[in-house]
Amino acid sequence: MADASDAPTDIVDGTIAPPPTAFAETVTEVRHYTDRLFMFRTTRPRSFRFRSGEFVMIGLPGERPVWRAYSMASPSWDEEIEYFSIKVPDGPLTSKLQKIHPGDTIWMKKKPTGTLVLDALLPGKRLYMFSTGTGIAPFASLIRDPETYEKFDQVILTHTCREVAELTYGFETVEKAKADELVGEEATAKLVHIPGATREPFARTKRITTMMEDGSLYAEIGVPPLNPGTDRAMICGSMEMLRDIKALCEKAGLEEGANNKPGEFVVERAFVG
Ligand code: A2P
Repeated sequence: MADASDAPTDIVDGTIAPPPTAFAETVTEVRHYTDRLFMFRTTRPRSFRFRSGEFVMIGLPGERPVWRAYSMASPSWDEEIEYFSIKVPDGPLTSKLQKIHPGDTIWMKKKPTGTLVLDALLPGKRLYMFSTGTGIAPFASLIRDPETYEKFDQVILTHTCREVAELTYGFETVEKAKADELVGEEATAKLVHIPGATREPFARTKRITTMMEDGSLYAEIGVPPLNPGTDRAMICGSMEMLRDIKALCEKAGLEEGANNKPGEFVVERAFVG
């Protein structure tokens, strides 16, 4: 009888080699926040470079993997890669992905991309990062990147979820940024966190769009309403949220930008159907 050492490496541990366009990486940490949300970290391929705010396609090893766009939630200088994910009970990827453990393998495509990058914005004074749910992921990367604070005097991260427990990852990440050796001082001075929960009692229970329209967002921060002279914005969340915040940015006179044509606000559409 053959023992494991005789077996082809591709079946010893039940895994198969990734396609040439993907890396196989090892899960190093998994944390579940609620029955809908979890984060995980993986090793990072030495040759993998990305700009904070970008995303990559990830999948699980298999003959016909399901690939989904995931923002890197860690900054571009980090040795590992962090992701923040929703769990969809019947989701083709997340129904399985939510069961991963440290030591498991995930595949990631070699080419990162995305519009929520600092290069896609014209210079400005204040940067708004508008997020709902797992849409905070690219901003979790950007608030830990020194370039964000080099380019802006004030960085306002809004994170709105249905329930209070869904805000935990955001609180932890903001705390990490403020305690970080590299960006801690700047983040403490410049980063403003505006968490909100719309379906449970909390300090803020309005949708961010309502807070923009009734002015309570600006009153709380002590700044004038959104304007193209000083303000830039990045938006990440559900399709409806993207549409509504984009409309409010445009109403305020901000123009949409892209990698090849920097503008006053950018929207990530990779995660929505
Ligand atoms: P609400 O509870 O009023 O629907 P979801 O999980 O559906 O993506 O929602 C995440 C958060 O985003 C919730 O707080 C939700 O508020 C809010 N939200 C949903 N749609 C919009 C929208 N069009 N504009 C602003 N916030 C939205």
